[in-house]
Parts: sequence; C-alpha cells; structure tokens
Amino acid sequence: MPDTAHPRSIRSFVTRAGRITAAQERALEELWPAFGVDFAARALELPAVFGRNAPCTLEIGFGNGENLVTLAAAHSARDYLGIEVHRPGVGRALLALKERGLSNVRLVCHDAVEVLERQIAPGSLDEVLILFPDPWPKKRHHKRRLVQAPFVALIARALAMGGTLHLATDWEPYAREMLAVLGAAPGFENAAPGGGFSARPAERLPTRFERRGTRLGHEVWDLAFRRQA
Ligand SMILES: C[S@@+](CC[C@H](N)C(=O)[O-])C[C@H]1O[C@@H](n2cnc3c(N)ncnc32)[C@H](O)[C@@H]1O
Repeated sequence: MPDTAHPRSIRSFVTRAGRITAAQERALEELWPAFGVDFAARALELPAVFGRNAPCTLEIGFGNGENLVTLAAAHSARDYLGIEVHRPGVGRALLALKERGLSNVRLVCHDAVEVLERQIAPGSLDEVLILFPDPWPKKRHHKRRLVQAPFVALIARALAMGGTLHLATDWEPYAREMLAVLGAAPGFENAAPGGGFSARPAERLPTRFERRGTRLGHEVWDLAFRRQA
C-alpha cells in the first residue's frame, strides 16, 4: 500500500489530507499491486521491477502524473519511475495508467529524499525530472526546498554517467538558486550550450503547476545538468 509515514522533521512537503475521490481511493487499493512499488530500505533492482532491461527516467513530485504518463506512452522502449507523496495525485496517475494500458511505469508513494537514499541503486537511472518543485517562497521556509546540495548529491549518485537531470520552475529566485547549487555540485556539468538556463524541452507538457504559473503571469526557467565523472 502507498505509504504516508515520514519520519524526517524538515520536509519539502506538508502532508495535506486533501480531497480524494472514491475512484482515486479505489485505484490506490486495486491498481497498486500492478503499478505500485512499496517503500523499503533496500535498493530496487529495476530490471526485476519492470521485467526487462531498459533506460529509466525518474520523475520526482509528479503531481497528478500527466507528464509522466504522456512521456511513458510516447516512449515505450523506456521505463518510468515516479515518486509522489500526495495520495490523490497518485490515485489519478494510477487511473491514467490503467486507462492507457501502460506497462512501463511504476509509482512510489513516499518521500523522494528517503527513496533516493535507500531505494535507488547507484548509477541506475538515465534521467531525472523535477518539474515545478514547491518554491517555498518565504525565507523561513527555504530550508524545505528540495533542490539543495545534499539532495543533488543523492541524484548524482543515482544517475548513470552521461545521464541528465532536468528541472523547471516558475519562481525566479528558486531558479537562480538551482543554477548556483547545481553549478557548484560535484559530478554535474551544465548541459545548456554556453551555460545558464536551458531551452524548454519541446516534449514537456505544460504541467498543472506550470499552467497555474502561466495564469499568474510567471515566466518559466528550465535547467539541464549532465552527470559526469
Ligand atoms: C508544486 S507541485 C508540482 C507537481 C507537478 N510536478 C506539476 O508540475 O504540476 C510539487 C509536488 O511535489 C510533491 N513533493 C514535494 N516534496 C516531495 C518529496 N520529498 N517526495 C515526493 N514528492 C514530493 C508534492 O506533493 C507536489 O505534488
């Protein structure tokens, strides 16, 4: 079953009760055995999880899973692992996976920090996506931001050499902080020609939070960093 125990004290999310529909609740019960991966403190063997050897993309904080499901449908030769703590979003993603008949996606409902620490084997991912992570705009909440040096080090460990971390945000101060944190992170080089922010990947769907930012008149900043020795 999806897990909601989060022992760390400073987290990048607040567990909201949130409204969950009956269909989402049912999906969490009935579809979890097919698409869910329970959190456990041992490294996953991705070929065993997906039943094949294929390059794997991890999306962290996938929200309701629109982007994850669309990418997975477009790239059947790749596998997709999604991490999200918000149960209604996981329920929606499960329903979409069932509806589209996808077999190359698995979901983990747990804190991504702990999943990266305990459950992802070093060098096992080809790509990591973090789209519109909570910006925590108030100064006293900055410590909750996901993209900080220790978290980036966990991603570096999880990515294979040559793999890429893509990020996007509509919050300019966070975008600049991401650039600084990643620019200083061992094991990453900026994949944008000339450094700085990168072009928006043509393939990325406008996510729910991106659409919200656009309605508020926000710009969007994309970043791409490549794992290197
Ligand atoms: C601002 S929303 C963006 C959702 C989606 N990526 C989008 O662009 O619409 C951030 C999401 O990250 C999730 N999240 C935040 N911290 C997380 C963590 N440590 N582990 C897993 N999910 C997390 C939240 O539950 C939320 O759904």
